[in-house]
Amino acid sequence: MTDAMIRLDELTKRYPGTEAPAVDRLSLAIPRGEIVVFVGPSGCGKTTSLKMINRIIEPSAGRILLDGEDVTRSNPNELRRRMGYVIQQVGLFPHQTIADNVATVPGLLGWERDRIRARVDELLSVVGLDPEQYRDRYPKELSGGQRQRVGVARALAADPPVLLMDEPFGAIDPITRTRLQNEFLRLQAELQKTIVFVTHDIDEAIKMGDRIAILREHSHVAQFATPEEILTAPADDFVEDFVGSGATLKRLKLSRVRDVPWLTDGPIGTVDEDEATLRSRLGASDWTALLLLDEHRRPLRWLRAPDFRHQRPVRELGLPARAMVEPQATLSDALEEMLLGSAGVAIVVDGSGAYQGIVDVDALVTSMQAVRDANIDYYRAAKLVDPADMVAG
Ligand SMILES: Nc1ncnc2c1ncn2[C@@H]1O[C@H](COP(=O)(O)OP(=O)(O)OP(=O)(O)O)[C@@H](O)[C@H]1O
Ligand SMILES: [Mg+2]
Repeated sequence: MTDAMIRLDELTKRYPGTEAPAVDRLSLAIPRGEIVVFVGPSGCGKTTSLKMINRIIEPSAGRILLDGEDVTRSNPNELRRRMGYVIQQVGLFPHQTIADNVATVPGLLGWERDRIRARVDELLSVVGLDPEQYRDRYPKELSGGQRQRVGVARALAADPPVLLMDEPFGAIDPITRTRLQNEFLRLQAELQKTIVFVTHDIDEAIKMGDRIAILREHSHVAQFATPEEILTAPADDFVEDFVGSGATLKRLKLSRVRDVPWLTDGPIGTVDEDEATLRSRLGASDWTALLLLDEHRRPLRWLRAPDFRHQRPVRELGLPARAMVEPQATLSDALEEMLLGSAGVAIVVDGSGAYQGIVDVDALVTSMQAVRDANIDYYRAAKLVDPADMVAG
């Protein structure tokens, strides 16, 4: 790893009055622009490790290097400005409005009022909360998922190069969680922050991490590797147990919709086209349905040939278009959408909901086979198991 944004060098924390260190000589290099996930059982030292990076907790020993500079004994306030922090359980200030919560760090930095206002509104939009509607509310007037969004917005406020996130999407329902994860990955593709992300959920680690540090007690690193490596070649029994069963299915979560070929040659129409045009376009294709898009190119309806017999506006014909996924969604998400949708395919849309293409089951199966073959090759090369056993299993 050549370009480490953060280097932890034998970082250690002994809480007063405790025998064993909570964190014992943790050494890691966190590459610039990547998401590194700390994952491990409750109490293994994840939060303590994270809080030492920005020195909310002062290390008992060891060093922190930020961008090559030793910051172990520099001014901690200076350090924290360079690192946005999302704390476990969100931790919004209950007596401050959403806007004031998001404005915490810019406020401390003494930004002008207008600049803060503009930044707050920008960030609320970025995390999917309409500023008009939410900026003057209080945290208790938001849902759990909305509060998590505000927590992320607050951490991003002063545009720090580093983000430290402690279970940022914990304690919310699985659907909202999946959505927040996907939104966050989309955001990260643009922002390219260096992120340390703590979770106790291996599935979340696999989904979010460019690299994963699997920690055992005292933040001892059991394995530090890419998700693919961890699923394919767990370092020891502890990692294997932690990853749990279904490693093959979990690999479905490693491939993204953007990695499989989309169909873009299917019949598409828009609401401003006339019915005869749409009907003949469907007739000329070998598809059973045409996908109708609205004025903003957002998928609206699936229209089959018989649907055109009804004398109604096209936007009322056929079945509603469901099963929408964004390019950064995992194949596992896409498969789930396909099973829920009526058309047996997932519609790929961009961040504004505009149509990009279609992913069908064939594309998924082909991609899964490719992943499996690659893993068999890996095992064969590593001579860990007989490839025949892999196929049988
Ligand atoms: N202020 C403290 N004083 C003494 N011991 C502490 C303190 N904070 C944490 N610990 C201990 O240090 C260990 C690591 O705690 P930490 O909060 O870092 O764990 P964690 O991995 O984040 O756990 P969780 O997944 O439950 O959030 C635990 O054994 C905990 O009891
Ligand atoms: Mg914790």
